Amino acid sequence: DKGEHRHFMAKEIHEQPEVVGHTISAYLDPVARRVTLPEGGLDFGRIDKLTLSACGTAYYAGLIAKYWFETYAKLPVEADIASELRYRDVPYMPGGAALFVSQSGETADTLAALKDAKAAGQQTCAVVNVPESTMAREADAIYPTHAGPEIGVASTKAFTCQLATLACLAIGAGVARGVLSREEEERLVGALLEVPRHLAEALAMDEALRDLAHEMSGARDVLYLGRGVSFPLAMEGALKLKEISYIHAEGYAAGELKHGPIALIDEAVPVIVLAPKDALFEKTVSNMQEVMARGGKCCLISDEAGLAEAARGGELWGRVPVPSLPEGRLTGLLAPLIYAVPVQLLAYHAAVAKGTDVDQPRNLAKSVTVE
Ligand code: F6R
Repeated sequence: DKGEHRHFMAKEIHEQPEVVGHTISAYLDPVARRVTLPEGGLDFGRIDKLTLSACGTAYYAGLIAKYWFETYAKLPVEADIASELRYRDVPYMPGGAALFVSQSGETADTLAALKDAKAAGQQTCAVVNVPESTMAREADAIYPTHAGPEIGVASTKAFTCQLATLACLAIGAGVARGVLSREEEERLVGALLEVPRHLAEALAMDEALRDLAHEMSGARDVLYLGRGVSFPLAMEGALKLKEISYIHAEGYAAGELKHGPIALIDEAVPVIVLAPKDALFEKTVSNMQEVMARGGKCCLISDEAGLAEAARGGELWGRVPVPSLPEGRLTGLLAPLIYAVPVQLLAYHAAVAKGTDVDQPRNLAKSVTVE
């Protein structure tokens, strides 16, 4: 049932404050402001390396989590797409663990990579949305996401629930490894508890994003730029756009621009810039200004303060104001969850404008059980 929405995808985008709330409450104690990871899970205090793998959108959630595990838990993480990981000669070392992310829990490559890691003596765990799935059965430990059934082929709420789960795991790992103090844990948990509210605020942009997306729907190519945690989100934005609107899009690390893709820039290629006010904001904006200086049209996704600061660099084609987030280290934790919303809505409205089959894009299946 789509309720008041035209598509399951729209319904699922709008469900995010609620389902992310459910997911967070499975892993956090809101009163004590502590992370409460389930019994029988990974013992992060005893792990010296984490191998992280998945496919598609779930992989981008994993890549964002790599930054979090490094920042909050000082845990070395290697992340790779499952179809590569399973065919590499990975030198798995004793004391390592492997974490797999999957909405369906059935993706063939991810499942094969999980079995390989297990056979190589790694502790395995799976962040899955379907608790009775094959991956959930095969893994030593599971961390369920509580997104509920996802019908739209393009993953939206499953992605943010994966992020919510992984954020809790990274903080829990930081505590277990003695990296985070009690005060830091409280601050991070307190910030995560605000995510459903920020998501609801971000969803209020829905209408405003429609016009921008309509304009974008005429483009042949779109670039998405971001740094740090916003780099995987840029790739996720590009994936979402291409799979449902069939517009060619690429997500790039903003710093890579001058190493090739800047050659693509002209007034026909919209550039979506993801720049939360974190430590990398100035660097990303300066990359954006390089694009603008070459006649590129840029749409900046940031908070009001970020948009005001960037406005000094010239006329933006698009401005997407996202709710402002707490400063400093907390922005890096919250931004991927909140900035996911405008990224999803842009893709959704561009696809609606083009009249594609949003919930059932051509050539795609919800669950990829063959390699
Ligand atoms: C994109 C999308 C796919 C899946 C990928 C992995 O919107 O849905 O990229 O993320 O096929 O699927 P799961 O998470 O079921 O392993």
